[in-house]
Amino acid sequence: MSNYLDRIGAGFVLANPEGLDFDYMPDELVGRDDIQNQLASKFSTLSHPDGTGRAVITGPVGSGKTVLAGTFCRDIQRHLANKRQIKTVQINCRNASTSMRVVQRILHKLDPGHPDRGLSMGELLISLRKLIRRDSAHLIVVLDEVDHMLRRSGDDLLYQLLRIDEDQSGKGTISLIIISQEQVLDLLETAVISRMGSTNHIIIPPYTVDGLEQIIKQRAEYSLVPGTYSSKIIRLIAEKAALSGDARRGIELLSAAVERCEFRQDSQSAREILIEDIHEANDSVALQIGIKLEVVDDLSAHQMLVLLAMCRRLKTEETMSMGDVESLYAVVCEEYEQKQKSHTTIWKYVKHLEQQQVIDSKVATVSDGRGRTTHLSMPYHLPADLSSRLELLLPKRLHR
Ligand SMILES: Nc1ncnc2c1ncn2[C@@H]1O[C@H](COP(=O)(O)OP(=O)(O)OP(=O)(O)O)[C@@H](O)[C@H]1O
Ligand SMILES: [Mg+2]
Repeated sequence: MSNYLDRIGAGFVLANPEGLDFDYMPDELVGRDDIQNQLASKFSTLSHPDGTGRAVITGPVGSGKTVLAGTFCRDIQRHLANKRQIKTVQINCRNASTSMRVVQRILHKLDPGHPDRGLSMGELLISLRKLIRRDSAHLIVVLDEVDHMLRRSGDDLLYQLLRIDEDQSGKGTISLIIISQEQVLDLLETAVISRMGSTNHIIIPPYTVDGLEQIIKQRAEYSLVPGTYSSKIIRLIAEKAALSGDARRGIELLSAAVERCEFRQDSQSAREILIEDIHEANDSVALQIGIKLEVVDDLSAHQMLVLLAMCRRLKTEETMSMGDVESLYAVVCEEYEQKQKSHTTIWKYVKHLEQQQVIDSKVATVSDGRGRTTHLSMPYHLPADLSSRLELLLPKRLHR
């Protein structure tokens, strides 16, 4: 009887799978204190009975817009629990792309049995207001990916939600947060932003490699069995994801590496994610950003020898130093019967390889704090692929 399903659920590496889900909401956001403060400042009057807030959040894909709004809604409810009853609804306008659908969804989330068929927009909004005020509550509406609705129905609904208390008794019924990727900002342009208040516009930057490292570490700590990953592995995944600055990409790479590691487990193998799990988990990063293996074809013979030396080490290690490059290059030169180039020339070759995005380099302070060292890595390619190509090209290049 085949035991090919044995590893499913074995949990050698993965302890809490939900932590690798994109929709998983972490207890705390990491590295976004400034932005969280900015958002909170737009809601500073919320503890008062009439207080409302507004915010427009824009930023590139995977910069944490949705999770920022989600954690804010969760946290503010707890924070004001003794002062004001806060309800929140998050609507993704990709799935509800007309203003009518959006209002129906909001109502449905607050009161699942509420009839909406046959009601006009005006009637739906009156029902919505009644429902909130009946419970003496305040509602924060988050319209995520709002560009979908704006494209189909314009910005009228925003206006109506912001004016929901006009001509009525009582104030402070609704707060509004709208979210969009910055690429579609043209649709959100001046009219919408000025309607929401241009000082309420929060612009989120893409994640840097350090930001991604913190997020991936947080997910690994939550989801994986302790001891199955090292900080170097986390860093390498962050470097791979840093090309896009997209946190979702980082989590996806971690998840794919976990999957590979889990499935190659047998009685001998170490219960630990290895570099090959990351490289093999995704060798299309280079393709995605358009860096092809052929970039090495135009290198000079000695640039190739330096790169070959690096590939050999980076097949099994995440990073290497300049010293490593020089000593391994010496070995490769001997193998190909070539005279070595000088230290300065090798350095120039390494810089050239970095410019071509074949390799990556980071300067770090060494642990005793007395100096700085350069860590060279190859986040965009599989070292094994590059070295086979080089070994094929080198004989021709040397005998030209
Ligand atoms: N600062 C952070 N701390 C912890 N997790 C984060 C952080 N930022 C993003 N994430 C996680 O990264 C993933 C992507 O974030 P999110 O979905 O919020 O991005 P987004 O900006 O809304 O992307 P899109 O433009 O595609 O809608 C989510 O799983 C989220 O939980
Ligand atoms: Mg989002």
